[in-house]
Formats: sequence, C-alpha cells, structure tokens
Amino acid sequence: MINAINLNSKLEIQAEAFIRFYYEETKKSAQQYKERLSEVAAEIRETGTYTHTKQELTFGAKVAWRNSAKCIGRLFWDSLEVFDERSAKTEEEIAAALLRHIEHATNGGRIRPTLTAFAPQKPEGSDIRIWNHQLIRYAGYRTPDGVVGDPASVELTEAIQRLGWTGQGTKYDVLPLVVQIGSRKPKWFPIPGEAVMEVKFEHPDIEELAGLGLQWYAVPILSDMALNVGGVRYTAAPFNGWYMGTEIGARNLADADRYDELPAIADLLDLDRSTNTTLWKDRALLELNSAVIHSFKTNGVSIVDHHTAAEQFMRFMKREQEQGRDVNARWSWLIPPMSPAATPVWHRNDLTEREIDPDYAPQERPY
Ligand code: ARG
Repeated sequence: MINAINLNSKLEIQAEAFIRFYYEETKKSAQQYKERLSEVAAEIRETGTYTHTKQELTFGAKVAWRNSAKCIGRLFWDSLEVFDERSAKTEEEIAAALLRHIEHATNGGRIRPTLTAFAPQKPEGSDIRIWNHQLIRYAGYRTPDGVVGDPASVELTEAIQRLGWTGQGTKYDVLPLVVQIGSRKPKWFPIPGEAVMEVKFEHPDIEELAGLGLQWYAVPILSDMALNVGGVRYTAAPFNGWYMGTEIGARNLADADRYDELPAIADLLDLDRSTNTTLWKDRALLELNSAVIHSFKTNGVSIVDHHTAAEQFMRFMKREQEQGRDVNARWSWLIPPMSPAATPVWHRNDLTEREIDPDYAPQERPY
C-alpha cells in the first residue's frame, strides 16, 4: 500500500497528465511518449522533481496563457516567445535576464509577447522570487497630503526603501527590480532609463490635455505570478503581452484609489462636477481613453482598444471550440471596464472557470 502511494505521488500524476497532454496535442508518437514518461518518473523518484525539456516548457507557458481565465488577449497565445533562463544562479544573473526580457519585449514599441522562465521550485526550497508586481511599475509614496505616484505600489515601495533604495519622489518613478533567492537578503537593481519605454498622453483634438502631464509605461510585464506546468511551479516567470487601452485609461489613471485623474480631466473639459447627472466621469473617461490609444499609436507602441480585443476574444473562443477545447473564462474579468455591454463578451452568460494546469497563479507576497 505504502509503495503504491509512493509510486503515484501527486507530482507523478500531474507530470504524467501533462506529458500525455503535450505528446497528444503536438502529435508525437506513442513510443516517444512512453520513453519520456519513464524518464520523468525515474527523475521524480530520484530527485523529488523533474526537469522540463525546452519544448515542454515553451508549450506549458503557451498553454498556461491559453488557459488564463482572466485574459481577453488570448487569441495570440501561440505567438508567446519563451526564454529559458533556468541556469541563472545569482541575483545579478537573474536581473540581467530581466533586463534582456524588457528589451526583447519592448522591441522599440512593436511589443512581443514574451516569458522568461527561471529555475522552478525544488523540493529542498530556495525559491526564486521577483518582488515587483510588474517589472516596470511606478513607485507610490505616502505623504501628509496623500500618495504621490501609484497608490497600488505603496507597500512594495516602502519595502524596497527599507532595503536602502531611495526614489526621486515624482509621480512616475520606476521602481528598481528586486530579486530574492530563498531566504537570502533580496537585492535591488535600478532599471536604466533608456530601457523603459514610456508614452506621454495627448488628445487627438483637445490640446490642453497634454498639459496634465499624464503618462504610462509601454509594456505590462507581470512578475509576481507563478507558472504551474505539470506539477512544477515556476515561482519566477515574468510574462507580458501589450496593453488594452482601458487598463490604463479606465483603471490605472482613473480609479479613485489609483491615480484618480478623472476630476482633473473633467475640470479641463469644463464639466459640472457638482452632480452625477452631467455624467462628467463618463465624459472624462472617454476623452482620457481616446488620449491613451491615440498617444500609444502616434508613438508606434502596440496597444489594442477594448472593442477590437473583445472581437479577438470571440475569435479565440470560436477557434478553441473548433479544436474541441473548453475555454476557461471568468466573465467579470473579461468584460472591459468601459462600455462593457457594447462588446460581445458582455452577452455571454455561459462562461465558466475551472482549476487547470498549466496555468498562471497568484502567489503570496514575499515582502
Ligand atoms: N492591468 C495591468 C496593468 O494595468 C496589466 C495586466 C496585464 N495586461 C496585459 N495587457 N497583458 O498594468
């Protein structure tokens, strides 16, 4: 009995399911599958874990994107480029690989969906963690007159300050990269200014908007989620796509607990903010979101509007259905935060979500 349990450890079951799925979907022979499976089983029994081939890792990362219930941009899952940095050992090597990720993904504005995988969790511990929520993100400083910068970054900013970093104190200070290996003291690395592409916002016809000095960075590179593939957990596996305009214009710059810029925009537009019935927030949102899309475009930086993204998502669902695959989907995340009912996703009341591997999963804050 005890033997039987050992032979079929949870990891072995997850590994077998993934290897079978990989070999089926990529149409490899039964012989190849059997050989690989016994190799994996032997490695698990010997070391308590197993090592993905580069092809398995790439496939796993792509399918994890395809499975991401909250992502509207999944039509392009198969175009993900995967960098294998599992051999990076030191904080310095990891930081250097992160800078390479930023450069490759940014690509002068023609953003490339990219994932960099570092060594996964091992039975003996010593996880690699990137403290940053995204590789490029703005600091938030608590001051007596409220937060300067991004309120969502206040706790991380203070944790990084305790490591000895000091920021300029502006609204848009890019935080340094923070890398931690196991229980070692984390190390921070400033990102060279020229590596960070940013877009300053101007409106196609409201000239005064530029005077508000609003901006955002070009590439959202999520860096605090784990990539789970066949029971193996990659605790450091930053990945990016390109922005959908509303993420910036209807959330980051608009939310009252983020940059809260709608009142300033409404005042610029001379709207009456004394009553909700003027729909000043909606008007301000519309012009801000026009400015975001317009400015990314005129600067040659990839971006998608929410109507196009929703259409692309519908095409993704259709294609998946044709392949005989169920789409994993969380409706509340897939509808855009502006004019959601004007997109076809709104009208899909049949979307469901399940636990799934491969996937990207939130992890506990390391700070
Ligand atoms: N919503 C996050 C932000 O505004 C980014 C999440 C990922 N977005 C993406 N388009 N890949 O920074």
